[in-house]
Amino acid sequence: MKSIASAPAKIILFGEHFVVHGTPAILAAIDKRVTVSSTFTENGTVKINSELGTLEVSISSLYKYKEVKSEFRPFVYLTNKMIDSNQNVKGLEITINSDIPIGVGLGSSSACCVATTASISGLFKELSSEEILKMSIEAEKTIFPDTSGADCTVCTYGGMIEYPSVEKIDNTFDLNLLIVNSMIPHNTKNSVEKVNKFKENDEERFSQLCDLETKLIDEVITAMKNNDATTFGLKMSENQKYLEEIQVSNDTLRDMISSLNEISLGSKITGAGDGGCVIALVKDENMDKVPALLPKDKECFSAKIDTKGVVWKIEK
Ligand code: PMV
Repeated sequence: MKSIASAPAKIILFGEHFVVHGTPAILAAIDKRVTVSSTFTENGTVKINSELGTLEVSISSLYKYKEVKSEFRPFVYLTNKMIDSNQNVKGLEITINSDIPIGVGLGSSSACCVATTASISGLFKELSSEEILKMSIEAEKTIFPDTSGADCTVCTYGGMIEYPSVEKIDNTFDLNLLIVNSMIPHNTKNSVEKVNKFKENDEERFSQLCDLETKLIDEVITAMKNNDATTFGLKMSENQKYLEEIQVSNDTLRDMISSLNEISLGSKITGAGDGGCVIALVKDENMDKVPALLPKDKECFSAKIDTKGVVWKIEK
């Protein structure tokens, strides 16, 4: 028996970083996926295969998940948790295949946590989406304790959401979202710590920025209701100013954003920043101008919104 689950990548359209401090955020699941398949074995071990390598841990030492390299830790945590409550398991093999670029703000780690939770649990007992979400956030916290949970939430439910709500927003205009990868890997934990320091140094300004972000998100929701792509784009650029102020941008990202602004309605960092990806709302007629605007080493692609979220099935 094989339990196969897949979960989508995500982009944060508005509100990254501030969401860690309690403001809402607008996120969307996109059409890149990670697929995880799990099957029972008789080996007395849990074997995890991913593009980052292979790890094999004996069932009796799964509880030491904190000692495992961070890229494998959430999976060992999840197997430990699920095998613990299913005593007669003799072994598991988990294989992760992903078309989500790693460490560039597209939610690869969250999608892996969500898909792995759904895949392993499928071998034992089908969980509800709420249960999958809860467990995948716990798994993600083994590498990033401060996570807002927003990434796992949108990977679980799919669509576009105004976090913390999981209700899908109907976007009335066709969002032509371009994602450009700076090819600079980032570390979410370090960027979030940097923002925490900014907050400690200037509580008053940080609180003002949180209020501004909340107001901006209200305006974005209204713009979507009014089919107003121009305002949506302007709000992206306004959000970028707040991200610049909390210092999660750099010269490379700023150059990419300023080039993209020539042909888009707005653009900004998506995710933790300090590298990773930027997104731009580009008019159809300008799409073919994009490659000439960007340095050759940057990757770019259009994103479609994924509406399914996590899906799973059993193959006998
Ligand atoms: O860059 P990513 O995909 O790790 O996104 C991080 C988003 C933050 O708001 C910075 C952190 C969080 O937990 O929401």
